[in-house]
Amino acid sequence: MSSLRALAIASEMAPLVKTGGLADVVGALPHALAAENIELRTLIPGYPEVLGVLHAGETVLEFDDLFGGPAWIHAARHNGAAIYALIAPHLYARESGLYTGPDGADYPDNAFRFAALAWAGAQIGLGALDGFTPDVVHAHDWQAALAPAYMHYAERPRPATIVSIHNIAFQGQFPKELLQPLRLPPHAFDIDGVEYYGAIGFLKAGLQLADRITTVSPSYAREIETPEFGMGLEGLLRARADRVSGILNGVDEETWNPATDAHLGTRYDHWSLPSRARNKAALQKRLRLRVDPDAFLLGVVSRLSWQKGLDLLLDVLPQLMRGRAQLALLGAGDKTLEEGFVAAEAAHVGRVGVHIGYSEELAHMIQAGVDAFLVPSRFEPCGLTQLYALRYGAVPIVSRVGGLKDTIVDANEMALQADVATGLQFSPTTADALAIALREAERLFEDAETWRKIQVNGMRTDVSWRNPARRYARLFRDVAATRVG
Ligand code: ADP
Ligand code: GLC
Repeated sequence: MSSLRALAIASEMAPLVKTGGLADVVGALPHALAAENIELRTLIPGYPEVLGVLHAGETVLEFDDLFGGPAWIHAARHNGAAIYALIAPHLYARESGLYTGPDGADYPDNAFRFAALAWAGAQIGLGALDGFTPDVVHAHDWQAALAPAYMHYAERPRPATIVSIHNIAFQGQFPKELLQPLRLPPHAFDIDGVEYYGAIGFLKAGLQLADRITTVSPSYAREIETPEFGMGLEGLLRARADRVSGILNGVDEETWNPATDAHLGTRYDHWSLPSRARNKAALQKRLRLRVDPDAFLLGVVSRLSWQKGLDLLLDVLPQLMRGRAQLALLGAGDKTLEEGFVAAEAAHVGRVGVHIGYSEELAHMIQAGVDAFLVPSRFEPCGLTQLYALRYGAVPIVSRVGGLKDTIVDANEMALQADVATGLQFSPTTADALAIALREAERLFEDAETWRKIQVNGMRTDVSWRNPARRYARLFRDVAATRVG
C-alpha cells in the first residue's frame, strides 16, 4: 500500500487544546491513520496554550500580512504527531476562551481568526511548503471549512478536499460585506459558492465545494438531510448525498483504558470487575455523596447546553430521588443549567454531587465509578462519552439519536436473551421517556447478574479507531485518485 500525505485543519487538538470531542478526534487521527500508511500532519491555531507546549521546532512558512498582522507557521512534533501551529499574535494571543471573550460572547473578529486558519491550510495544500505537499486536505467543522473554497477559487492544481461535520449547529455565518476582506472573489458570492441566506457561510462553502463530506456517524449522516437536524443545510446535503458518508469516531485506547488509567485509585478490567466498587466509593467521597455500595449511581460528564438535553434530567430528578439513585455530574456551560444542578445538590445533600468546571481527572473517575452513564442528547453527531462508558463498565443510558443510536445496543428483551445488550436507549428525547428509561435501568440494576452481563458486553465492544481508520483511509485514497491537476 503506497503512502499518502494528508493535511488536517482544525481549531482544537487534544491534548494541546480542547473544548469538546472534536479535539479528541483530531488528536487521535494522526496515530490511527499512521497504521493505514497515511501521513497526516495537522494545522491548528497557535493559541497561548499550544505555544506554551510546542517550544522546539522551526518556522517553515511566513505571511507578511494575514488579515491584519504578520503570521508564520511553526512546525513541531507532540506526542508523536506532526503539528503545524499557525502563529498570528493579532488573532490568537488571547487569554480568554478559544472562541469567546471574557464576557462569553464570540470574539468580533472570529471570521478573520478562522479564515486565517483556512487560508494558511489552503496555501499548504497548494504547495507552499518545501517537502510537504498533501494529496488530501481534511478540514474539520466550520472553523476550517473555507480551505476548500480558497483552493477552489485559486484555480490552480490542488489536492483533493474533505470537510468533516462534527456539529452542524455551528456554521460560521458572517456579513456579506466581508467577502473582499476575506480574500474571496466577487463571483464566490453565489448559491454554488459561499453565499448562505444572504450572508457568507463558512461551513456552507466547505460543504458546497469540498470533494467529499463526512460526518461522525451513519445515523447523523442521514439525520442532517432532514429539516429537523439539518439546521438549514439539509437541502445542500440532500443534493450532494452521493458525496456524504458517516464514519463513527473511535476511542483513544491508551487515554481511556481502565486497566492502566493513572487517574484511578483502583485499576480493573472485565475479569476484575468487582474491584471497580472501590472507584465507586472513591467517587462518592470525592463528590460528597453518601458512601453506599448499593446506591444506583448515575454519572454525567458534559458540556451543559441545549443539545445535551440535561434540562430533562433536572425535570425528572425529584422522581429519581424517590428510589435508590444518586447522581454525579461534571459539566460547565449554560448558566441556567449550572445553577439548576447546584440547586439540586443543595436540595439533595448526599444524593446529588455536582462539580461545575472542567476536570480530566474527575471525568475519568466518573466513568470508572458510576453504575450507569447518562447521555440524553436532543441530537448527537457521534458522542464520545458513551464510548468511554462502554470501556469503563458504566452502562450507557442514551437517547436514540445520531451516534448514540449507532453505538449502544438497547437492553430490550431480545437483546437480553441473546446476551448482546450494552446499554439502554430511549425515544423521543423527552422527560417522560427519560424517566421510563431510568426506572427500567434501576430495575435491571437490581438483577446483579444481568447488569454484570451488560457491563461486560460493553467492555468487550470494539470502540477502537481500527475500523474507522480503515474507512477514512479508503476514503482518502478514493478521493486522492480524483484530485485536480
Ligand atoms: P461534544 O464534543 O459535543 O461536547 P463528545 O461526547 O463528543 O461531545 O465529547 C466530549 C468530550 O469532552 C469528552 O472527551 C468528555 O469527556 C469531555 N468533557 C466534556 N465536559 C467535560 C468537563 N466538564 N470536564 C472534563 N471533560 C469534559
Ligand atoms: C461534536 C459532537 C459530538 C462528536 C464530536 C466529535 O462536538 O457534538 O457528538 O462526538 O464532535 O466528533
